[in-house]
Amino acid sequence: MIGRLFNLIFVLLLGGLAAYFWPGQTQSLQNALMGMLAAAVALYTYNIWQSQRLLHWLRQPELDKQIRFRGVWGEAGDRIIRLLKLKENQRIVSEESLRQFLAAIQASPHGVVILDKDSRIHWSNQTAYRHLGLDPKLDVQQLIGNMLRSPDFSHYVHAKSFDREVFIEGRLHRIDRPHKLGVQLFPYGDGRMLLLSRDVTLIEQAETMRRDFVANVSHEIRTPLTVLSGFIETLQMLSLTEDERAKYLSLMAAQSDRMKSLVEDLLTLSRLEGSPFPGNRDWVAVHKLFKTCEVEAQGLSERLHPADKGRQQLVFELPEDNASDELAGSQSELHSAFSNLISNAIRYTPAGGQITVKWARNAEEAVFSVTDTGPGIAPEHFSRLAERFYRIDRSRSRETGGTGLGLAIVKHVVQRHGGTLLIDSKLNKGSTFSLHFPSARCRFGQTDAKDQVAVN
Ligand SMILES: Nc1ncnc2c1ncn2[C@@H]1O[C@H](COP(=O)(O)OP(=O)(O)OP(=O)(O)O)[C@@H](O)[C@H]1O
Ligand SMILES: [Mg+2]
Repeated sequence: MIGRLFNLIFVLLLGGLAAYFWPGQTQSLQNALMGMLAAAVALYTYNIWQSQRLLHWLRQPELDKQIRFRGVWGEAGDRIIRLLKLKENQRIVSEESLRQFLAAIQASPHGVVILDKDSRIHWSNQTAYRHLGLDPKLDVQQLIGNMLRSPDFSHYVHAKSFDREVFIEGRLHRIDRPHKLGVQLFPYGDGRMLLLSRDVTLIEQAETMRRDFVANVSHEIRTPLTVLSGFIETLQMLSLTEDERAKYLSLMAAQSDRMKSLVEDLLTLSRLEGSPFPGNRDWVAVHKLFKTCEVEAQGLSERLHPADKGRQQLVFELPEDNASDELAGSQSELHSAFSNLISNAIRYTPAGGQITVKWARNAEEAVFSVTDTGPGIAPEHFSRLAERFYRIDRSRSRETGGTGLGLAIVKHVVQRHGGTLLIDSKLNKGSTFSLHFPSARCRFGQTDAKDQVAVN
């Protein structure tokens, strides 16, 4: 302020002195006053010009921040430019935070839709597109009721029961491939709403599996229990001969064996699911496993297919070169998987058929396979065979004592050992079930030569 006053005085004095000492003019006070007046007018005109420049600059839609003004207008201009820069920085910071915030919402596994007071879509994320088919650009301003046509959702909106979520079918829902969503509305602000959707397909599937599992287990246990209690009643009510008694007791023993094997299989499955994967430290000698399986297979085959009905031919092929092979993993799990496949082949192949059990190894993998000349399996069953309790022909499987858990156990075991179960079968021709283990899990064993038994 004082500086500007001095400036003014300085300009006036300069004008007065210039007029006073102007060459050819008389040096009078009057001239000096005229000079001061002229200087004041010039200063005023200059100020008007600067203020006009400033106003003109302010009227521009895009302000040029390089422009400079003089005098008091210079300071005003500088302050405006500083303010603008500050605002600009604040805008950039807020835009960046908004961008980050929206990116975080975009990354959310939940569908997020912001609705305005009239329930029109204001903003939605990509997940909302994947869940509900709402296009983040094209569907802005659309009424949510028009976009989500599920009757359950309409009922939910009308009932205004927003303290819970409603379950509707997702965009990708098909009868053979369900897509289920949980959708909930959260009112906020002055009548606006936030819609969140989450994919509950897997949860629903797990729940359905759990229900099916409980139903299957109950059914599998109830059947032999009913038979058993029937026999017990018969034994209690009727006076039977020794032979009849023995017959009933053996039938009862078969039913209790069935229940026992069901419970054992269930326990095996839950052990497989609950225990850590077998590591690479324990090595299982393949030839020993082969030998055990062969002895068991002979016993089972002789029991199921007595000589008078025509024996099955069992062939165990463990090439000499691979007799010392070892597989990294759990002895008991691998034994259970191998013997499950062999017992299936024996049980489902009629008398007189052939069952070939093989071990082969190449650079990429080691393969354990069981081939039979049994009834074969139609391709439509392949994908479901390893499901729990899945049996192609329930009555026939029940006759042979199966619970439908064998292949589920095999699949679990092979996956836990980093391998895969492959099924190849032709109806009325036979089947091959093979377990493929990565070569990283196999090695030529350190077994003593005396201990090596090639089983052919
Ligand atoms: N080698 C095979 N030949 C023909 N069908 C087979 C063969 N192996 C399995 N299956 C079919 O696959 C179904 C499922 O087999 P899985 O081993 O899981 O159950 P299971 O043999 O019925 O009972 P479990 O093995 O629990 O005693 C069987 O019921 C049978 O119908
Ligand atoms: Mg089986």
